[in-house]
Amino acid sequence: MKTIIEPFRIKMVEPIKLTTREQREQLIEAAKYNPFLLRAEDVIIDLLTDSGTSAMSSEAWAAMMRGDESYAGARSWFRFRDAVKDIFGFEQIIPTHQGRAAEHILFGVMVHPGCIVPNNTHFDTTRANIEFNGGEALDLPCAEATDLDSDFPFKGNMDTTALEELVADKGPEKIPLIMVTVTNNSGGGQPVSMANIREISRVSRDAGIPFYIDACRFAENAHFIKRREPGFENTATIDIAREIFSYADGCTMSAKKDAFANIGGFLCTNDAELAHRERNILILTEGFPTYGGLAGRDLDAIAVGLCEVLDEHYLDYRLLSTRYVVQHLLDSGISVVAPAGGHAVYLDVRRFLPHIEPLQYPGQSLAVELYVEAGIRSVEIGSVMFGLDPHTGKERPARLELLRLAIPRRVYTQSHMDYVLEAISLVWQRRSEIRGMRIVRAPQFLRHFTAEFDWV
Ligand code: F0G
Repeated sequence: MKTIIEPFRIKMVEPIKLTTREQREQLIEAAKYNPFLLRAEDVIIDLLTDSGTSAMSSEAWAAMMRGDESYAGARSWFRFRDAVKDIFGFEQIIPTHQGRAAEHILFGVMVHPGCIVPNNTHFDTTRANIEFNGGEALDLPCAEATDLDSDFPFKGNMDTTALEELVADKGPEKIPLIMVTVTNNSGGGQPVSMANIREISRVSRDAGIPFYIDACRFAENAHFIKRREPGFENTATIDIAREIFSYADGCTMSAKKDAFANIGGFLCTNDAELAHRERNILILTEGFPTYGGLAGRDLDAIAVGLCEVLDEHYLDYRLLSTRYVVQHLLDSGISVVAPAGGHAVYLDVRRFLPHIEPLQYPGQSLAVELYVEAGIRSVEIGSVMFGLDPHTGKERPARLELLRLAIPRRVYTQSHMDYVLEAISLVWQRRSEIRGMRIVRAPQFLRHFTAEFDWV
């Protein structure tokens, strides 16, 4: 069969409230033109994030009923620990309430003022947690990453030549760890190849620097390797995932992505002494080491989700359904990051709205227009998110101006996506009338969440 179907049936539904354009104009104005400040019920299709928004399976809900809420040593903890160990393979597993809590603990222990942490591209919480500890978060994406027309299959790769130069230049004392984010969320949701992961691992081992993986979308990345990297066609995706982590010394994970959970995360390492220090912080900020800020039922949901996410029929559907949207946009002449990533579609805002200056936040304008047009919520990944230099307090344009439409796992059907495609094309037709925005008020860190805007 040529038709790709959603490999699940719908057992429970959540009604969508429909709004009119006039209502949406008022709602977004009241939300200070920041989609994060909208009420979810006023959104028709919510593509703000794929994080914590997945539909859980009947098995995961059943597992939640088995959750053991004992404070210490709960059965749920052992099921969680065994599921994580089976895929990720690390000796020390530290549960946290979500990914950024794992980052906060990891960088709190490893990052000190003046040091540098390279990554293919840091996600905003990773960057902020490093900067909060006085370190510098350095992005070293491969050259193809910025070429939005390149059809290079692994645009999430790190520039390992630049990494080697950095290590030679600064010395291992200045680099407490090297990270790679799979898939590269802020760089367009693009995968990282196994060859690149092996090379990063080699550089880090040669220099004696620990290598960590930001593993949020590890299953999607592993499946891209299966479908795109020669030599992996016949390898099971779970074995590809295991190989990825075999090259690393640890990882941070948000179970809100590739574990289908609504909350949860973990931090892993093979270093027992480091884990001891991390658990001391865990107890202060998250909870006892066998639950780390999660309920027993959450641990059980994650254990099931980690197993389900590696189902290759699901992953084929996931990657193909994202590609469906990307392909339709390309066919309509609308510039998007291609080839398609796994969890999101990224509109290339510089080409959508070339008449708006980067520091008049064209991505924010486009997010507002998509909401007004059709009630679609998306997120700017450009100069609002990355344009503020925390050291100088000055603004500089981000490397890319993207609008991310993140696709929650197993939530929306193809007809929802067709609606999204129609809306984008309507906004595209009137793009020359769209104006830039200015920031009225914003906090110092992670300003995109709460900043208030107005039209220029
Ligand atoms: N790393 C990456 C690559 C992420 O995409 C995220 C979250 C995190 C770390 C932090 O995890 O949310 O559980 O604390 N990304 C979400 C997003 C928020 O919308 O892309 P968290």
